[in-house]
Amino acid sequence: MKNIQVVGIVGAGQMGRGIAQVAAQTGFDVILFDAFKNSLDFGHNFIKTQLDKGVEKAKWSADDARVAFGRIKTASQMSDLKNCDLVIEAATEKKELKFEIFKQLDEVVNPEALLASNTSSISITEIAAVTKRAGKVAGMHFMNPVPVMKLVEGIRGLETTDETFNIVEAVATKMGKTFVRAQDYPGFAVNRILMPMINEAVYALYEGVATAKDIDTAMKLGTNQPMGPLELADFIGLDTCLAIMNVLHDGLGDTKYRPCPLLKNYVAAGRYGRKNGKGFHTYDK
Ligand code: CAA
Repeated sequence: MKNIQVVGIVGAGQMGRGIAQVAAQTGFDVILFDAFKNSLDFGHNFIKTQLDKGVEKAKWSADDARVAFGRIKTASQMSDLKNCDLVIEAATEKKELKFEIFKQLDEVVNPEALLASNTSSISITEIAAVTKRAGKVAGMHFMNPVPVMKLVEGIRGLETTDETFNIVEAVATKMGKTFVRAQDYPGFAVNRILMPMINEAVYALYEGVATAKDIDTAMKLGTNQPMGPLELADFIGLDTCLAIMNVLHDGLGDTKYRPCPLLKNYVAAGRYGRKNGKGFHTYDK
């Protein structure tokens, strides 16, 4: 099986920087790429802060934090990823953007390397089809916050080879995550189940069943979830939730996946959740 040592990450946002941190802490050499210098610097500094916080909390030693941070190089050109063994894309959840990134990755990255997407709902088969190495493309869906959440949902595109999928599983396992295997259908396993629950919570709010606070308290205390569904939607990002609901609705064609009009209105109003301080709840930015 191909040995994976150098892992490239595309996108230094909340998912990309979390994946970079965990990869570096589990012994991979990481190249973190973002086309926007501000995001790259912010993501890189955020990792340093997280590693330092872990030292303060005695989760790991100062030496381990220093070694892990030293394993992360930043890159502002996609061609800097050319020698990676595996590249994990964690850019914004937009189909056209992901297609463009994979076309470019396919051109610049060593043809033997594997390409993975952290997409939460876009078809891996379609993403793979824009490359000339569809067999070497798979989904690696990490959960937010990446350093805390134990799951990686592996998604097998129609052309993904056994070898590729086994390597991707081995990488996720080395990163300390539990890997589940899902086939390439809209929303895969996690979001096929999670998003309709969140959407239903928005419908409950929309129809006046209960207040946002009470819906969250009911689900937190009544079903032992760490966050209520509306709080979780704010945490994930309402724009992302809406994008995923649209993928389920378009891809499965069933009206039960219709995004709640209130969710659409919140996104239209620019209420994206925690990331800009305002969603179903308000937050200090
Ligand atoms: N990065 C790293 N560590 C973080 C973190 C972050 N962003 N946020 C919290 N943590 C760590 C804290 O440092 C703390 O660690 P220790 O216990 O070792 O000190 C631990 O997580 C708990 O944090 P807090 O005490 O501050 O807060 P909490 O107990 O309320 O937990 C939470 C926060 C872990 C986020 C918890 O509320 C939770 O598990 N929420 C549900 C998250 C979830 O469902 N995520 C999946 C979303 S779906 C998805 O990501 C995929 C998709 O496609 C949409």
